[in-house]
Amino acid sequence: MHKFISYIIVFSTLVFGLPAFAQESFFIPQPESVSFTEGAFQLDENVKVIVPKKLQGTLIPYLAEKFQNDLKLNLTYSYKEANRDEKYILFKLIKKSELQDEGYQLEVTPESITVTAKDYPGLFNGFQTLRQTFPIENSRTIEIPAMSVTDNPRFGWRGIMLDVSRHFQTKEYILKQIDVLSAYKVNKFHWHLTDDQGWRIEIKKYPNLTDKGAWRGDRTGITWWERDKATAEEPKTVGGFYTQEDIKEVIAYAKIRNVEVIPEIDIPGHSKALVASYPELFCYNDAEANFEVAVGGKAPDNAVCAGKEYTYEFLEGVIEEIAALFPSEYLHIGGDECNKSNWKKCPYCQKVKTDNDFKDEEELQSHFIQKIHKIVKAQKKTMIGWDEILSGNGAPGATIMAWRRGTYTPQITAPQNGYPTIMTSYKYMYISQIQGATISEPEGPKVVLPVSKVYSHDPMPKELTAEQQALVLGNQASLWAEFTPTEEHNEYMLYPRALASAEVSWSKPENKNWLRFQNALGAYHFEKLEKTGINVSKSVFSVYPSYAIDELKNQAIVYLQTETEGNAIHYTLDGENPTYQSEKYISEFRTEAKTLLKAGIFNADGKLLGKVLEIRLK
Ligand code: ACM
Ligand code: ZN
Repeated sequence: MHKFISYIIVFSTLVFGLPAFAQESFFIPQPESVSFTEGAFQLDENVKVIVPKKLQGTLIPYLAEKFQNDLKLNLTYSYKEANRDEKYILFKLIKKSELQDEGYQLEVTPESITVTAKDYPGLFNGFQTLRQTFPIENSRTIEIPAMSVTDNPRFGWRGIMLDVSRHFQTKEYILKQIDVLSAYKVNKFHWHLTDDQGWRIEIKKYPNLTDKGAWRGDRTGITWWERDKATAEEPKTVGGFYTQEDIKEVIAYAKIRNVEVIPEIDIPGHSKALVASYPELFCYNDAEANFEVAVGGKAPDNAVCAGKEYTYEFLEGVIEEIAALFPSEYLHIGGDECNKSNWKKCPYCQKVKTDNDFKDEEELQSHFIQKIHKIVKAQKKTMIGWDEILSGNGAPGATIMAWRRGTYTPQITAPQNGYPTIMTSYKYMYISQIQGATISEPEGPKVVLPVSKVYSHDPMPKELTAEQQALVLGNQASLWAEFTPTEEHNEYMLYPRALASAEVSWSKPENKNWLRFQNALGAYHFEKLEKTGINVSKSVFSVYPSYAIDELKNQAIVYLQTETEGNAIHYTLDGENPTYQSEKYISEFRTEAKTLLKAGIFNADGKLLGKVLEIRLK
């Protein structure tokens, strides 16, 4: 980006003789306003960094690490003012300001750089914008173009969810993601810690949860939905969990990066690992009951018993430890997709249903959720649940995570009914769905969610009044991990769609622009992320093929698409790899059936962007 801005500055100065002014920036997320002025600040080892005294213990180590890693610069850090002749970068907290929480102002002049904010998150975010002016290559002297940036977040909740149950992800992996995501102003990490396929958090009162519940039989290499049921005899070698010390380390690391960590314990459904660890939590113990951690696929009979008092006593013990461990005001209890088949056959569940005159198991679920809500409130936490907790009598006082769309419209009904709501639309924000042409992508759910679609999302429903809109806390991208057995694959699903979600969550709709975002990825962020060791997907440069066979003429009619703008598709029909000199795709064409088509996306410089598509037209 640095190179690009310099080019614009030189170009506009030469051509127009005007003060240098850049027309475009490659920041992600796009700030509220950016204006480039004349000149540049030379950042080198003589620069002093000044931070507020009360933040020196947190901010200085963080800044020092980033200046060292990004630029190999060992700067001087202080909370004392600079001397007259010193060049400096000043982080300044001010009490009265037009800025919102987490907002900032960034002023770069040839003499100094100043980041101003009302709060620590604002200073942190302003620094992230500044970092995006750094060149990708380490360089101990750089020029930062003079500019003035004013920026505020659209939403206070800018989240990413990682599912560490379906496939365990190490503490180191989680730390790495928090570090990278926070650079894009993501500020909530929703940690889906439990599900049918593994319980991932140490609970001291209940050691079986991790002795047994964190481990499962090995089905590596077998498609998720086609796996044979777990058996008692087989060795349980796949899994892992976080100790409470690990969790504390993650929380502290995240806090410095302005990231709040929200734990999720998914109950009453999605609880096979819980029930496998403590079978008394299940409704009955007959010959058919399977008390093994699920290995994949659907896990029927995975709900804890909603009728036994034991269930609530047990869960109170879990919730107490979790509430003590996580400083977040929120505690997510899941509540989604509860399969109630065992409740229908259970004497305890049925007794509670009869005693309370519940008309169906939905009302029993509501009863369960309300009892859990009481336990959560007693811990002085706000309960979050997936939108299924609205069913029956709902859960007044809870916060809703709205994922379903279509038949259910929780994104509208939850705020209309007074619930604070976080949007994570499964149509736009479930980044577990594949992100390029199916033929070119690794295994995953057979729904395509390209980065442009994530980017296009507006989480704010038009149907809401201003008062109801104020209940929309924000937006989140959620990455379910059934199909990401490795951390490399998980990262591939996250990037770049997490960046699109970050911009959806931070930038005002009027400041969003797909072409700019797409160019920013290609010109700067892909390379920057790769340099940070991230396995970035380039599927945005996927060629999407579709074709029909004309059986009468034995021909294929071929139609090719790209989600990008300003690039061209070139293809071959002779088995050779396409180059910029190959035929350029203009519109649909015919070729002999069974031909091998190869196609790629090329930019205006003739560079192949992304992978070559290969498809036999039969
Ligand atoms: C969900 O996707 N079951 C929340
Ligand atoms: Zn029961």
